[in-house]
Amino acid sequence: MRIAVFAGDGIGPEVTGEAVRVIEKLGLPDLELVEGDVGGAAYRKHGHPLPEATLDIARSADAILFGAVGDFDLDHLERHLRPEQAVLGLRKELGLFANLRPARVFKGLEGLTSLRPEVAQEIDLLIVRELNGDVYFGEKGMRTLEDGRRQGWDMMSYAEDEVRRIAHAGFKAAMTRGKKLCSVDKANVLETSQLWRDVVIEVSKDYPEVELTHMYVDNAAMQLVKNPGQFDVVVTGNLFGDILSDQASMCVGSIGLLASASLAEGSFGLYEPIHGSAPDIAGKGLANPMATILSAAMMLRHSFGLEAEAVRIEDAVAAALAEGVKGGDLGGSAGTVEIGDAVLAHL
Ligand code: NAI
Ligand code: MG
Repeated sequence: MRIAVFAGDGIGPEVTGEAVRVIEKLGLPDLELVEGDVGGAAYRKHGHPLPEATLDIARSADAILFGAVGDFDLDHLERHLRPEQAVLGLRKELGLFANLRPARVFKGLEGLTSLRPEVAQEIDLLIVRELNGDVYFGEKGMRTLEDGRRQGWDMMSYAEDEVRRIAHAGFKAAMTRGKKLCSVDKANVLETSQLWRDVVIEVSKDYPEVELTHMYVDNAAMQLVKNPGQFDVVVTGNLFGDILSDQASMCVGSIGLLASASLAEGSFGLYEPIHGSAPDIAGKGLANPMATILSAAMMLRHSFGLEAEAVRIEDAVAAALAEGVKGGDLGGSAGTVEIGDAVLAHL
């Protein structure tokens, strides 16, 4: 188990440090942690946010645990040298095409979400978003028409192999959970979605145990706030997934609790909290490390098949929250190390 630990800048090192303590506590055999520089920390040392040496570590690892990047003091740099380029570069270099974002409401936090507590407490879902295709990567342009009006365009397209691999990621995730997959598209209007739907149905033949349903994206947006308890795993394209995953996140509460995975073909993946480097609280020991700890749990599940260990970590986080250990993002006063200690105690 060779894990690359890329802590980054801002609160990245603080939250990653706690996640590493949690992984080490499990006493897994053959565990090897290799640190690498990314983001602002890497720029300051090597003059680049994603140095070749870091990429080499990433390529030789079985998984990456990533903190956060985004150093405001480096905002003046050209785009390709900015800290955020580290995440984009890793996605591209390592073929990370599936973004997984779980959303659930922990006991004791029902009142902190933006939905009514009785609706929010039903949420336990996973959004699987395609990351490498769709309207963001299609042909795009801007021109002035003969009559002087300006026109911009971005072409939406998916090739069937791109749909097939994200569909497999969705079905595989469903197999580890409630065995329900909802594919979200706009097949009543878009050709891209018609192909998407056909391919998802083809792939479903490989997963007879999973119950497949389809939903139009506008309805999915409504259902996510009306009756979110109906969803187990949702699989969707890049554009729809970008919007729905942020919507689902805010239905369950604080940014300090939200984990994510970006998966490549096979078992390789990059695991990170969805929050950024939080420069406003960096270096003060105030950041909530739970999102990063939960990302480490996702890593054990998806890259190493250690479902029982993943659940142990998730249960320890839930138990710490249930006994009232809350970071500032949740209106509490527990610091980074204190929260790490509480999770370790429950582990
Ligand atoms: P942010 O997520 O860093 O912070 C937003 C707000 O949430 C801040 O008030 C912050 O203090 C709070 N917060 C975030 N994480 C927290 C935690 N674990 N515990 C307690 N409070 C927490 O988003 P912001 O401020 O928009 O971006 C800051 C920098 O991070 C930017 O340079 C941005 O580009 C970068 N960024 C990097 C990401 C990544 O590394 N994947 C993702 C999002 C933003
Ligand atoms: Mg987004």
